[in-house]
Amino acid sequence: AVADIKGLKQGTLRIAVVTTAKYVIPRILGPFCRRYPGIDISLTVTNHQRMLDSLSGNQHDLYIMSQPPEDIDVKVQPFLENPLIVLASRSHVLAKQPQITLERLAEETFIMREPGSGTRKEVQKLFETNNVTLNTKLDLGSNETIKQAVAGGLGIAVLSKHTLSLEGSNSQLAILDVEGFPIKRHWYVVHTTGKHLSAIAQAFYEYLMNEGKQVAEETAFQGLLS
Ligand code: PGA
Repeated sequence: AVADIKGLKQGTLRIAVVTTAKYVIPRILGPFCRRYPGIDISLTVTNHQRMLDSLSGNQHDLYIMSQPPEDIDVKVQPFLENPLIVLASRSHVLAKQPQITLERLAEETFIMREPGSGTRKEVQKLFETNNVTLNTKLDLGSNETIKQAVAGGLGIAVLSKHTLSLEGSNSQLAILDVEGFPIKRHWYVVHTTGKHLSAIAQAFYEYLMNEGKQVAEETAFQGLLS
């Protein structure tokens, strides 16, 4: 309809994404913005808990997260895989070892994301389910800081595989072969059920569903992920 096309010419798309998705969503936004050059983007990057808090406030058009809420009435669609992997420095003794057990892993010092992080929640769940206690040395509120700490030999960490998207072949990080890993998860596109999606938000939603995966693969850096 004419009104829809007009609505797509200008306006702001407001998206909130969890920190794991910041490695993918900006790249997916590139082709979308070229298709609709008149629109502006407001992208908020936050952790799982803060996103849940802002969901009830409904300030964004669309939310991208791995663990959608069960106590808020939301529409949820999976759109891309977001596996969690175990990272160590490339020179770590476990770096070349096959089939590491969780018990062996627990002998190492862990670096964890901050309380409120969905990544942290998932790691705690896995270790609790298997009755293995983690030796956590550091809480850090940033995937990037954790990668630097792991590279510096401070410990090992579990992060989204997507955090490695710009690591080249001479990266100082190694993915460990650990039982139960990668933890398989997805990102979901979420909006509250009562939310009226603007024409821009609707167009982006459909773009994510129909082309998101393909664009993510096409624009992926072929480093450690390959
Ligand atoms: P987070 O990411 O750790 O930044 O909360 C969320 C997730 O992928 O679950």
